[in-house]
Amino acid sequence: MKIKLYYATILGTSQMVCEDIVEAMGEDYDFSLSDIMHLSVDDLNQDAFFVFVSSTTGHGEMPDSALDFVEEVRERQPNLSGLRFAIFGLGDQGYADTFNMGSQRLLELLKEHGAIQIGERGIFDASSGEMPEDIAIPWLGETLKAYENEYVVGNV
Ligand SMILES: Cc1cc2nc3c(=O)[nH]c(=O)nc-3n(C[C@H](O)[C@H](O)[C@H](O)COP(=O)(O)O)c2cc1C
Repeated sequence: MKIKLYYATILGTSQMVCEDIVEAMGEDYDFSLSDIMHLSVDDLNQDAFFVFVSSTTGHGEMPDSALDFVEEVRERQPNLSGLRFAIFGLGDQGYADTFNMGSQRLLELLKEHGAIQIGERGIFDASSGEMPEDIAIPWLGETLKAYENEYVVGNV
């Protein structure tokens, strides 16, 4: 199965998480990995499963690297009903009111345009003392199992 992984990062942690995912799961899935700054609406095709990994910056904002994509979606108002995606957010509970709002905003934007979210949003809290990849890799494993059970089995 083809999986397109896109990260939106400020300090590089989200990118590192994606690289760890590819290292851990790359034998089982056909991953491509890219910065969300290179993503265009035209890339949201249906021949792959999309996974977004986004941190939060400012006061509950997505990283700047996501803003061109967000603006393009708002301008073009695409119908994303063919898109299946999962999303993992990195944040810090220290920012109580805006904890993980960046990934929440990206998730809402995609769903507003008809995209179907698979599984629950994965959440990492940087103040937890845990390593983000230790949360993200099992989360994605579970999410992909749910996706395969619902959408892939029976079609192959
Ligand atoms: C300037 C700044 C603002 C932040 N604002 C928030 C925030 O509003 N909410 C939140 O949950 N985390 C916030 N964080 C925490 C980051 O999202 C968290 O450290 C994350 O792991 C960084 O991942 P990245 O390296 O991929 O950008 C902020 C971090 C910085 C440096």
